[in-house]
Amino acid sequence: MTYFGREMVAWRAASGQVTVMDAYCEHLGAHLGYGGHVEGNRIICPFHGWEWNSEGRNVCIPYQDRPNRGRRIRTFPVVERNESIYIWHDVEGREPYFDVPDVFASFADGSSAQDYYPAYPSGTLYRNRLALHPQYVLENGVDFAHFKFVHKTPFVPQFTRQQFDEPVSYVDFTIVFDAAEGMSADTMNSGVEAINGGLGVAVTKSWGMVDNRTVSAITPVDDETSDVRFMVYVGRVPGDRSAQPPPKARAVAQAVIDQFLADVHIWSHQRYSDPPALATAENAGFKALRTWAKQFYPRKGPIPQ
Ligand code: FES
Ligand SMILES: [Fe+2]
Repeated sequence: MTYFGREMVAWRAASGQVTVMDAYCEHLGAHLGYGGHVEGNRIICPFHGWEWNSEGRNVCIPYQDRPNRGRRIRTFPVVERNESIYIWHDVEGREPYFDVPDVFASFADGSSAQDYYPAYPSGTLYRNRLALHPQYVLENGVDFAHFKFVHKTPFVPQFTRQQFDEPVSYVDFTIVFDAAEGMSADTMNSGVEAINGGLGVAVTKSWGMVDNRTVSAITPVDDETSDVRFMVYVGRVPGDRSAQPPPKARAVAQAVIDQFLADVHIWSHQRYSDPPALATAENAGFKALRTWAKQFYPRKGPIPQ
């Protein structure tokens, strides 16, 4: 796979452990993704059969009695969560200093995956190599004005929380998609809570509407393009133990995906406006978000190797 402008491979060992590492064998540079295979807890190079473990260490040269202990393929920290594999990529090589949010546990409301139909496969969206910057997706969270136009909401959502103090940030707002008779912007009775883990991942929880949770993950392929992944978990009908969501839940998930696609359509053709021309009421939210976002870009000056 190609992410962050580099060739990588992901593989699962017999132990279950997932490893993400650079794709090139340290011997003579074969790409492990083209003909390499996993045996037990090792990935084996297709070219001369050298074996590498999940730390990227060479553990066997088939035609020599000792492995090459000095060479190591670069590995990346990974976490498996919410049926997804998250890669930590830091150009400065730092260890992870914040955790990716969990679409259930991070809301600390006692919910778990058992309360929801699986998102995979019917409630997922995957689009690859869009000219879409990860930051656009999070800017959506402070962009109150787009909801009426892109999502056709009857009212402008009202923010109740915009907290950008830590690498994990929080945005809550009230929103309705269909206005009940006599409802006004001040009496909206449903909403969304979002937790952003850095620029790449956001999880949301809805309340007051059909119970759903979402995960969006935007992974840079290179400096110009990103892969987009989105998942929707719909709350189970009490007592329903079915393995896959029933048609009604699927329709809800699809409606949520369609709303996300309406954003993707804008984002994938957008040009970053900096500094942007903002309406007065937009200033605070965008300023908070963009100031917060700066920490996730390389610092100025040479990057330590
Ligand atoms: S290039 Fe991988 S074993 Fe030779
Ligand atoms: Fe949106």
